[in-house]
Amino acid sequence: MNEQFRTIKNEALQAIETATTVSALQDVRNTYLSKKGIVVGLMANLKTIPNEEKKVYGQQVNDLKALIEEKLSTKLEVLSAAELSAKLAADVIDLTLPGRSFNVAPQHPFHLIKDEISEIFLGMGYTIAEGHEVEEDYFNFTLLNMPENHPARDMQDSFYLNDKELLRTHTSPVQARVMQENKNKPIKIISPGKVYRRDDDDNTHSHQFGQVEGLVIGEDLSLGNLKATLLLFTQKMFGAAREIRFRGSYFPFTEPSVEVDVSCHECNGQGCATCKGTGWIEILGAGMVNPRVLVANGYDVEKFSGFAFGIGIERVAMLRYGIDDIRRFYQNDVRFLDEFKKR
Ligand code: PHE
Repeated sequence: MNEQFRTIKNEALQAIETATTVSALQDVRNTYLSKKGIVVGLMANLKTIPNEEKKVYGQQVNDLKALIEEKLSTKLEVLSAAELSAKLAADVIDLTLPGRSFNVAPQHPFHLIKDEISEIFLGMGYTIAEGHEVEEDYFNFTLLNMPENHPARDMQDSFYLNDKELLRTHTSPVQARVMQENKNKPIKIISPGKVYRRDDDDNTHSHQFGQVEGLVIGEDLSLGNLKATLLLFTQKMFGAAREIRFRGSYFPFTEPSVEVDVSCHECNGQGCATCKGTGWIEILGAGMVNPRVLVANGYDVEKFSGFAFGIGIERVAMLRYGIDDIRRFYQNDVRFLDEFKKR
């Protein structure tokens, strides 16, 4: 092998040896084996070689080419493997690192209390019935013993959508709907939902609020059953030390009707600012289902009686959390929720 071959061979092997990346190795390949590369150039010289030497010369170029190719491919394997493992090492995900935290909005107190009220009654064997926020006045009023032109309709100022439909003024129409579906079968349901009344909003009045309706129909039910139910509810919601009292009231769909007060949690019934000195706080309306309502909705009053109640969701939430303005529930000020999160 002449001097020129030896030099090219040594330089090529040296270049392969010292290449540290796949792309540097690719450069070496281009330098020697591409169309304009050194080895191809040697082959082009063949025509200047005397005929008798051509065979040996050609053989030498081919051997050199084969050698460089072999070294290149061995080195390529080594470098690719090294680069792959370096990449894998760099990409490793450390599963023990804590995740990035993001802000989760706390639940709105309306929903917290609505769910809590529902849980208490579900625990007593009630099921949940759904109603309609856009309701027919037939269900909202007529079937609840408030015929057209009955003055009691004015107890609840309403938003009418057309001659027959309105935004329901209370959840009591669900009573009528469930009775119509069950005629002469026992019932034990609650129905949480939104209601709407025309009102001048202030810190205790709102044109929209939530109620949880309760309706139980069976045989031999009395005011005593209603009182036991509401006492259990009150004590679960406000603490075992709370008492309740019934005050006579009027609703067209219950007879007798009562307003239910809970003993004040601030002063334990002694009288303070929270209970306006009375020791009691009104929390809901209730009563025995008026027989006229039972009849209107397909029940045999000789056999069935029932009781019903309507719990104000915001009212309970305000007492539980000491919220002093009912408008905060619908103003959509996110600071309300943040403040609530700290409790
Ligand atoms: N529907 C009544 C109201 O909105 C509350 C109530 C419900 C009273 C059930 C008695 C029985 O004021």
